[in-house]
Amino acid sequence: MEDREVKSLEENPDHSQKPRLDRRSFLKLSSISGAAAVLAACAAPPPAPTAVPPTAVPQASVPTAAPAPSPVVVTETVEVPVIGAVLPYPRLKIATLNDLQSGAFSATYPDQFSPIQVLKVGKKVPGGVGPDGDIVAYSGLCTHMGCPMSYDPATKIFVCPCHYSHFDAAADAMLINGPATQNLPRIILEVEGQDIYAVAVEGLIYGRVHNLSLTEL
Ligand code: FES
Repeated sequence: MEDREVKSLEENPDHSQKPRLDRRSFLKLSSISGAAAVLAACAAPPPAPTAVPPTAVPQASVPTAAPAPSPVVVTETVEVPVIGAVLPYPRLKIATLNDLQSGAFSATYPDQFSPIQVLKVGKKVPGGVGPDGDIVAYSGLCTHMGCPMSYDPATKIFVCPCHYSHFDAAADAMLINGPATQNLPRIILEVEGQDIYAVAVEGLIYGRVHNLSLTEL
């Protein structure tokens, strides 16, 4: 090719004209330049990886702590009545030792609507007070349906005239027989000199939801 180019130049000395290539030389030059382009492409460094923005990682839901409860401030207290418990009963004089010479004495406690029987059993008994530990008192109303009961000093037994329930005065007024299902309520006593005081009731007096009215608490 170069010889032909030189020859062409020699045949055409006008340097103002561009050298002319024949078709064969042109194809040869094109193949050489194409190979050079391929080599240049292979020698070029690989393109830098495109930066991928980090994806947001979902966070595990963490339970939030419950707010601390507000401290409870007690500004006042309310006394709730308890049925059958020993409550702040009045301390009332109900009899004297001389009243019990016949073995039994009728009185009322803790109010005028609650008849009781105060007894001198003649032998030491559970809950008995006085010099001989034989003075006790019980509600005079039957626990079955509230009938007033009779006391027999000879047998020391309460007998209900309505349905004949029997209660043992020497054994904490325990039910002996009859349709009643509970013992008689016991009156708590104290003795000072010759005086006998009632201070409380154990057990619920028949017909009441509370032994004391709310106005007496
Ligand atoms: S009321 Fe006393 S046994 Fe029924």
